[in-house]
Amino acid sequence: MNQRDFPEDFIWGTATAAYQVEGAAYEDGKGKSIWNEFEKHPSAIVDNAVGDVASDQYHRYREDVALMRDAGMKAYRFSMSWSRVLPDGRGTVNRKGLDYYKRLCEELLRNGIEPYLTWYHWDLPLALQEEFGGWESRETVKYFGEYVGRIAKELDGLVKNFFTVNEFLACSDVGYGLGAIAPGLKLPKKRRNQVRHHLLLAHGTALQALRGVVPDAKAGLAENPSFLIPVIPVPEHIEAAKKAFREVNAHFITAVMEGKYPDCYLEREGADAPSFTEDDFKLIGAPMDFVGLNLYYGKPVRSAPETPEGYFIFNAETAASCTGIADFNFEPSAMYWGCRIVHELWHPKEILISENGMSANDRPSSGSEVYDPHRIKYLRAHLASLAGALREGYPVKGYFHWSLLDNLEWHLGFRPRFGLVYVNYATLERIPKMSWSWYKELIRTGKIE
Ligand code: NOJ
Repeated sequence: MNQRDFPEDFIWGTATAAYQVEGAAYEDGKGKSIWNEFEKHPSAIVDNAVGDVASDQYHRYREDVALMRDAGMKAYRFSMSWSRVLPDGRGTVNRKGLDYYKRLCEELLRNGIEPYLTWYHWDLPLALQEEFGGWESRETVKYFGEYVGRIAKELDGLVKNFFTVNEFLACSDVGYGLGAIAPGLKLPKKRRNQVRHHLLLAHGTALQALRGVVPDAKAGLAENPSFLIPVIPVPEHIEAAKKAFREVNAHFITAVMEGKYPDCYLEREGADAPSFTEDDFKLIGAPMDFVGLNLYYGKPVRSAPETPEGYFIFNAETAASCTGIADFNFEPSAMYWGCRIVHELWHPKEILISENGMSANDRPSSGSEVYDPHRIKYLRAHLASLAGALREGYPVKGYFHWSLLDNLEWHLGFRPRFGLVYVNYATLERIPKMSWSWYKELIRTGKIE
């Protein structure tokens, strides 16, 4: 049997984000982001790590692109640092910063790799946080739309594929609710919910801005809904998982896909519900070209007629965990079920897996190879499940592994290593791990074995 599991034109790639890989935090006129401020607080980040150098992609992008080409990658998902191109979030464009992204895109294209640009991956310009309270304010949303429109035009046809906002939950709930990541605020629920709403609106505003200047752009979200899978694949549990998926994710992906807040969310929040207008939802619910799913974990669901909601979600801890971060339990079938449930609920035109991966404490052996069979096991299981979704005809077009290379895992510092490529942070040397070779072979054959 020589049958491929993935078609020839499947988009294989990897993903990163500016703060996590670029470094050059104060170079060439870049303005500060909320992370450059947050990281200074003692113990905000494990080991008091900072992003000044990170994986140094700002200076080593050619080397990184050469690696991607060698593996046969078709695409690279990276984010733009807003404050690198607009140091205050608005006003004059920093040409040197913009040139970096142009050079990166040109290098990618020269090597046959399609750039997929994320406009917002958590590093808000500090000036917007200080002046307007960041995402608490509609001013920030307005400036986000202006940034996207202006810079998309400046990119001059180099990029055709865009993600608007990466993961609403982290930006709003973790940044402005729990305070574990920048800007490190612990706002009351009502204000936190307003931040959530403004991020949805930022997504819609960016879509509108893009459509105006890059008519052939393809754009969508990169979102990490809670993935819920039927505990047993029989109709009662499948229906329960679908209902749970829609309701648990009501305030983010469901609101975007349905162009309104489901009643269950508004009822749940009561007086803490955000203020919004109908016009907001004209933007938020505008059609997208694809939905990007960042998929790291899943929870089993059973039908529970005895409860008011009709379903019961098992704790992730009940599933054996094999990945480096406790919340990210090993649940590969979330791939198949995630694609299927999203498709059955909303029929998006295309689905991309915009992130998926695991961290570990990888290190070179004495022969300086980096052996990571755990990551190969993770990849094989997740991609076999994804292949199942393709076999059944769900419109999955691509997969971006998180991550290309080891990088700064936000408040968790440099310890969790997510890369297919190992980074020696003392020398910044790159060493492709064994999983890199596995991925390369999969790209070549299109087959999971
Ligand atoms: C999702 C985020 O988008 C990314 O920045 C992060 O590093 C990975 N998950 C792993 O936690």
